[in-house]
Amino acid sequence: MRQSRRQGVRSTTVLRREALTATVPVALAALLAAAGPASAGTGGAPGAGDPYFPLAGNGGYHVDHYGLTLRYDPASRHLDGTAVLTARATQHLTRFDLDFTGLKITGLTVDRAKAQYRRDGQELVVTPSRRLHPGEEFHVTVSYSGTPKPVTDPDGSLDGWIPTDDGAFVAGEPQGAMTWFPANNHPRDKSSYDITVTVPAGRTAVSNGVLVGQRTRHGRTTFHWRQREPMAAYLATATVGKFKVEQYNTRDGLRVYNAVDPREASQAAPVLKKLPSVLEWESKLFGPYPFRAAGSIVDRAPNVGYALETQSRPVYDSAPDLSTLVHENAHQWFGDSVSLTSWKDIWLNEGFATYAEWLYSEQHGGDSAQKSFDALYARPASDGLWAFPPGDPGSGAHIFDTPVYARGAMTLHELRGSVGDRTFFRILRTWAAVHRAGHGTTAQFVHLAERESGKNLDPLFTTWLYSRGKPNHA
Ligand code: TRP
Ligand code: ZN
Repeated sequence: MRQSRRQGVRSTTVLRREALTATVPVALAALLAAAGPASAGTGGAPGAGDPYFPLAGNGGYHVDHYGLTLRYDPASRHLDGTAVLTARATQHLTRFDLDFTGLKITGLTVDRAKAQYRRDGQELVVTPSRRLHPGEEFHVTVSYSGTPKPVTDPDGSLDGWIPTDDGAFVAGEPQGAMTWFPANNHPRDKSSYDITVTVPAGRTAVSNGVLVGQRTRHGRTTFHWRQREPMAAYLATATVGKFKVEQYNTRDGLRVYNAVDPREASQAAPVLKKLPSVLEWESKLFGPYPFRAAGSIVDRAPNVGYALETQSRPVYDSAPDLSTLVHENAHQWFGDSVSLTSWKDIWLNEGFATYAEWLYSEQHGGDSAQKSFDALYARPASDGLWAFPPGDPGSGAHIFDTPVYARGAMTLHELRGSVGDRTFFRILRTWAAVHRAGHGTTAQFVHLAERESGKNLDPLFTTWLYSRGKPNHA
């Protein structure tokens, strides 16, 4: 499903401004022209500049911290929330946007003063009572309530706050964060989070990072989660359900919290038991695990159809198999700690996590990565695998298609073959280390691979990431 509505909204605004300047007298027009760029310069951009999701994220500020306080009632599907965003202006701002869709806003302040706001699709346009200065810290408090609804992505899948029979499956890739909290909803902006969720006693609310408090009063339980390491909004979760909870520390001192829907428990148990050894194996290959907390949320959400690498604790729509566990946890390095700056680069997430599955199999008595590669390469040129090159999915509708995952992993396998194992694994570790808690682009990865190997890898990456059709394999 395509969402052309957004494009329409923006072009109308532009047209209106042009029409206005065309009809005013010359002197006034000159005045407006002088004021024009200045006033345009003090409104934060409605998007972060991502061509696949033009309205995702916003310009003019960075969010340091989100403090979310939520209360959810699974029976009525009603959510009440307060979001306190601690942000910093990166330009003069007379107004700025947040991404927020669906829920009703009951109050909005900037630095405790009532602020004006209006809503335009997913854009929440905020006009504070005074102008904000570059570098200035400010606090936005938004109170809201209602029945959250998931968004439908360009590929037809659901994301955001997705109700289940006992709570909600909450996963925001690529757009869904804005269905349950007001956000600067693009991975370019990363923030720390405190997420506090109150649910009826007997239900569990599981989020990212470390559980710093839990208490039950008057028939309700409040869970307070803290994610200190920077996190993209799409990786936040507040999944609610009836869960069996298991907590322990690993040998490396990671705090593990597993929450499992009892109906999935017997199938999930043998896989979850392997989590510490999977994380140890991945740490040897990719470098130190990037967060202090780890774990799993195994829900039963039959209408979802995917798992998500929610930061520090992936969420699964049903009991995962071992390769899915390996995949989602590999994302903690590739995708979560090292974030995208543009959704076009999605192969940096999915190609890497898929290649981690191949490596795991190779090193644990299963098929070699070469065998996985060969099986895919054997597919005819007409196969969907070759529909587009993974470095250029073309639009948000294709970012989770087979070429991104499989041909993305094939690209890494080709790289490994070209530079040799020692250099290849050094490239992966250096990538995770240099961009840890930050961002990385495809161009930066190519550059790093060339620097570490001393080879010109341009032909390899051009062929595997950017050339149409099935590559000729030498
Ligand atoms: N990133 C997820 C994974 O591969 C998959 C995913 C998240 C997804 N959101 C999606 C797939 C939406 C399809 C549609 O681990
Ligand atoms: Zn993935």
